[in-house]
Amino acid sequence: MDRWVKAGVVENRFEGDRVSQALDETQIPFLIKSFLDTAYDGLYIPQKGWGAVMVPEGFRDEAEKVISEVKRSFRKEEEMSLNSMDEILRFAIRKEADAAAFYHMAADRSNPGVRKTFEELAKEEEGHKEKLEVLDLKKIDQIELKEVKGLGLSEMMEDVPYSPEMSYADLLRMAIKNEEKSQHLYTSSAKIVKEPKLEKLFLILAQEESKHKVRLEKIYDEEILKEF
Ligand SMILES: [Fe+2]
Ligand SMILES: [Fe+2]
Repeated sequence: MDRWVKAGVVENRFEGDRVSQALDETQIPFLIKSFLDTAYDGLYIPQKGWGAVMVPEGFRDEAEKVISEVKRSFRKEEEMSLNSMDEILRFAIRKEADAAAFYHMAADRSNPGVRKTFEELAKEEEGHKEKLEVLDLKKIDQIELKEVKGLGLSEMMEDVPYSPEMSYADLLRMAIKNEEKSQHLYTSSAKIVKEPKLEKLFLILAQEESKHKVRLEKIYDEEILKEF
């Protein structure tokens, strides 16, 4: 009898349903374990994932393929449905609030040295939220866009689901992955919108999220990777 192993993470119930359906169709035995019971003080943790998809080890490769295919098409649909400027903005505002909440939580759980960084990041995410709430398209022209170069660490990292017992290294990894996702969200939003100023706003936000990512990657590099 095969051991049960994790073949992937689903982000929400809907994605869970779609993955279940696809795995049913391919006749792969599976089980979805929800993370909800371990949520931090009932606070919704952004992008921690909704549940783990478990399959017998022998089915893992096949299941991974099915899951990533479902996710790809799911994400595409999700992007398409964000068609009005209003919807995109509301969505982004919520994401920023989630990100700020995440960094406050991370600050609470970190030693004083890093706490400051997490608090600063929380503040900046709150700043993003306010920027979106009182959107002044006139000021956007004055902001210059520069490309931000990362250390390439996030691309090599796996998604990290939230758990209350997670280590400091995992917390950093989760933060880096969150920033990577925010950056992607804004880059793809920039592609969808027609209004050039709004497009620029999204590119600015994408740039800020990549700065966050780089900042965290440097901390990770200094404090985790160099330890070994
Ligand atoms: Fe942000
Ligand atoms: Fe950020």
